[in-house]
Amino acid sequence: MPAIIDTDPGIDDAIAILYALRHPGLEIAAMTTVAGNIGLSVTTANAGRIAALAGMPTPVHPGAKAPLGRAPRPELGIHGNDGLGGVAFPDAARAPEAEDAVAYLARTLTAAPEKTIDLLCLAPLTNIANLVTQHPGAAARIRRVIAMGGAVDEPGNMGRAEFNLAHDPEAAAIVLHAGLDLTLIPLDATRRFRADAAYLETLRATAKAPAEASAALIDAYFVQTEHQAKGSESRPLHDPCVPLCALHPELFTIETRHLRVDHDGALIEGPHPISVAMGVDADGLRARLAEGLAC
Ligand code: BDR
Ligand code: CA
Repeated sequence: MPAIIDTDPGIDDAIAILYALRHPGLEIAAMTTVAGNIGLSVTTANAGRIAALAGMPTPVHPGAKAPLGRAPRPELGIHGNDGLGGVAFPDAARAPEAEDAVAYLARTLTAAPEKTIDLLCLAPLTNIANLVTQHPGAAARIRRVIAMGGAVDEPGNMGRAEFNLAHDPEAAAIVLHAGLDLTLIPLDATRRFRADAAYLETLRATAKAPAEASAALIDAYFVQTEHQAKGSESRPLHDPCVPLCALHPELFTIETRHLRVDHDGALIEGPHPISVAMGVDADGLRARLAEGLAC
C-alpha cells in the first residue's frame, strides 16, 4: 500500500513511523515534515533519525515552518526539547531533501496513477492545506487521507480543541472541508488505545530495535507528562492509530459525522460529512502494534 507520512516527531509520531516503516504491508515512499510538537528543523532531523533506527532509506522533505497565519506553539512539555523525550536515536543516514514537502507531494501525486497513494497525517495539517490550495489537481489524486486529530464528543487537549487541529485551525479547515476521502482519528478513539508498564515489558521482550526504542519513548512520555497526568498508569498512543487504521480498519469503529472546524480548531456541528473513528478495539491494536514493531 503506497503511502506518504506527514509528521512532526514527536514521541508518538516516532512510534507510528517505526511501525509504518518496518511493516511489510506499507510502502512509505517518503516523509514530509512540519512545525508542530517542535520546530521544523528538529522535526525534519528527527524523521531522518527515526528512519535510520528503522534501517530504512526513506527520504524526508521539509515543509511548513509555521501554521498558516499564526505563530508556532511547540509542545516541549510533552515531547521534550529534542521532540523525542531524550531517547537516543542514531544520526540520519541521509540529509533532508532539497525539494520541499508541497512540491514533492504535488510531483509524486501527479506522476503516480490516480488514487494510488495514501497520506498518513500525524501532525498539524499545514502541508496538506498548502497542497490543496496550491495544487488542487494533485490533491484530487490522493487515494485517501488518514489523519490523527480533533475531539468530537470529548474535551480536547487544548481547551475544546485537539493539538493538531488547534495548532493550525485554518489548515485543518481547508483539509477537512475539501471533500477528500478522509478518515479522522480523534481523541475519542486514541485516548482508548493506551500503553501501561506491562505493555512496555511486552515490547522490550521482543529484543527488536524498533520495539525497544518504542518502549523507551513511551517511558519518556510517562516522565514528560507526569506533572499533567498524576496517578495515571497508562498513556495514550495517538499517532500509531493512523498506520494501524490503514492496515487494520476493522479495529476501528468509523461513523460519519457532520462537522466543521471553528476558529480555535475545535470540531463543531457543520455541513461536512466526515468519517470519524469513534471507538477502537484496544487489545487488538496493542497486539498488532507489538507485532509490527518486532518486524
Ligand atoms: C497529537 O498532538 C501531538 O502532540 C501528538 O504527536 C499527536 O499527533 C495528539 O493530540
Ligand atoms: Ca504528531
